Amino acid sequence: MATCRPGLEGVLAAEIEKLGGRSIKPGKRSVAFSTNHPGLYRMNMALRAAIQVLVPIRTFNARDYKLLYFQSRRTNWHQYFTADKTLRIDVNGHSPTLQNTQYVVHRVKDGIVDTFRKMTGGIRPSIDKAEPEIHVVVHMHGSKITLCLDSSGIPLFKRGYRLEHGEAPIKEDLAAGILQLSNAKEHAGIVDPMCGSGTFLFEGMMLMHDMAPNLKRSFAFQHWLDYDEEAFLAEQASLEKAGSIKKDIPIVGCDIDEESIDLVKRIAATHFPDIPLTLHHSAFQEVELDLPNCLMVTNPPYGKRLGEESELPALYRDIGTAAKKAVMGGRLAVFTTNRKAARQIRLTQDRSCTLFNGALEGLLYEYSVRGA
Ligand SMILES: C[S@@+](CC[C@H](N)C(=O)[O-])C[C@H]1O[C@@H](n2cnc3c(N)ncnc32)[C@H](O)[C@@H]1O
Repeated sequence: MATCRPGLEGVLAAEIEKLGGRSIKPGKRSVAFSTNHPGLYRMNMALRAAIQVLVPIRTFNARDYKLLYFQSRRTNWHQYFTADKTLRIDVNGHSPTLQNTQYVVHRVKDGIVDTFRKMTGGIRPSIDKAEPEIHVVVHMHGSKITLCLDSSGIPLFKRGYRLEHGEAPIKEDLAAGILQLSNAKEHAGIVDPMCGSGTFLFEGMMLMHDMAPNLKRSFAFQHWLDYDEEAFLAEQASLEKAGSIKKDIPIVGCDIDEESIDLVKRIAATHFPDIPLTLHHSAFQEVELDLPNCLMVTNPPYGKRLGEESELPALYRDIGTAAKKAVMGGRLAVFTTNRKAARQIRLTQDRSCTLFNGALEGLLYEYSVRGA
């Protein structure tokens, strides 16, 4: 089961299908599917809109904490990992009779620890909340409990290229989801007129050049007993080969903030040195952009800072005007939490959908750009 932000289930299901997943069933903030070991490794390295890939290991009914402990104790944890590993347990979903999630964690942990103690004569996994090797997720749906192993470990939106970030970055998985919802791959290139730390640019680059976003990082499944390194390396090599750089895809960013542009340059030089990228340290209103059939995608300021609100109507109007000039025949996609400001974009809206950047609810507005 791959988890995702609400609104990205359809995009994620399509990604999973493309990567060879079977029996795909989109759910709420998740997509269930089946695959084999190489498939699990491939999903972790290549999925763009996923947060984690969970492997369910046992499902049962438990209405109270005693039964929960009993069932955790009966689980063959030792078949999945060894007693010397570090562990973290989290809970998702809801159960009306197991409302104290801290106690749920406690009871499942006791079950795991007691299983190992008995098997090993006292050696047990230790708890490490910050950097655990093994991550257990307790999924609750009423009294139905599923114990899962998180195969990803560090969430999949932590790609590794974002060592520092600008002021209000959009999460990588959300940016990748928005790009796919806006059919980025059907466009000639990508431009973000207010690129900040460049999330749309880097996610767009990887999408357009078929580069897997998590090729060079570690995963929790590498600590599992059934980890097959040969299969992992083979999947990694085949994904690396599939990413081919096409020189004629423009990727363009503008920002008025010098620090943001410098940051994007540093990230590009370190992580994407071979991919053409054009950056303008300037207000987008001042830049002559001629990028027909490209996707203009951005999350503009939405008026959080003092004094910003009054400037928003003009700024959003300018985005519409810039799109008409720059990406004729292409598309404009704007993600914002400010509906009032978005009304200032004077283009014909194709559709809008609700998405979340963390706890912030926003809307993705999409417009076809038919030229000036
Ligand atoms: C919400 S942030 C974008 C965050 C970005 N998507 C990221 O992931 O880091 C908005 C950005 O718009 C920039 N900005 C505001 N007005 C601008 C303008 N007229 N032209 C270009 N950039 C502008 C700000 O400097 C800021 O970096």
